[in-house]
Amino acid sequence: MLGSMRRVDVWVAAADEPVGQPAGPGVLDVIERARFDALTHAPTARAYLALHTLARQVVGSIIGAPAHAVRFDRTCPVCRGPHGRPTVIDHPGLHLSLTRTSALVGLAVTTVGAVGIDVEQVSAATFVGFDEVALHPGEREPGGLPTGRGGRANATMWVRKEAALKALGTGLRTDPATVRTPPTGIPTVVVPGTEPLTVTDLVLPGAAARTHVAAVAVAGASAEVVMNGARPPR
Ligand SMILES: CC(C)(COP(=O)(O)OP(=O)(O)OC[C@H]1O[C@@H](n2cnc3c(N)ncnc32)[C@H](O)[C@@H]1OP(=O)(O)O)[C@@H](O)C(=O)NCCC(=O)NCCS
Repeated sequence: MLGSMRRVDVWVAAADEPVGQPAGPGVLDVIERARFDALTHAPTARAYLALHTLARQVVGSIIGAPAHAVRFDRTCPVCRGPHGRPTVIDHPGLHLSLTRTSALVGLAVTTVGAVGIDVEQVSAATFVGFDEVALHPGEREPGGLPTGRGGRANATMWVRKEAALKALGTGLRTDPATVRTPPTGIPTVVVPGTEPLTVTDLVLPGAAARTHVAAVAVAGASAEVVMNGARPPR
């Protein structure tokens, strides 16, 4: 894994059936444990545990450390709180991105450069007012986008933008309505003045392909995106 020059490894799994070995909250560090304990919505807590266990197991296997011993830094550049983009302490060349819904968890890992992944439920992108929240003014003009778009098209635009903004590290501090939806497979400057990114739509396994969409963004030219995980989400 991670052997080829431009490669992004992705894991997507059902939150109730993660691809890694079963592990309890004991695998989490103090910060993760506090966040997990504060999540009172059971499916959210289950997804949080599944995602962070997966991240620890995958990163641990790459750097040769037990899952519980992987040290992440998540310092938010705005407030210095521990809720920002994760990096692996002592392994700055390893880039990762995490995403979760209550049903699915997703992880992207690469040595290519900054990476972002996002997964969303299609039905979450059908609300009235989506265009104002999510679309660039140019995308809202007549002819800017095909009329009669459904939730899947909306959700696809959203995950491409959010994956790109997570790769840039600002996330939703950059208003998604100020950026145009990046195309797939073509290096694109998504936010003026930042490095080009290449976004790839992910083909989700199993039943998740009907209910969710996902995208990954990586710094620079396109990279091979390898989907890992043997068991498809139900
Ligand atoms: C990152 C962000 C886009 C995620 O949105 P979301 O759709 O709710 O959540 P996702 O499941 O896709 O991603 C969550 C993961 O993104 C990662 N993340 C957090 N901030 C990030 C950032 N700035 N850039 C990239 N990734 C980030 C974390 O690993 C987080 O996982 P966790 O919540 O399980 O610890 C959104 O939360 C955001 O923009 N946060 C930053 C806002 C900010 O910095 N405000 C200033 C606070 S002082």
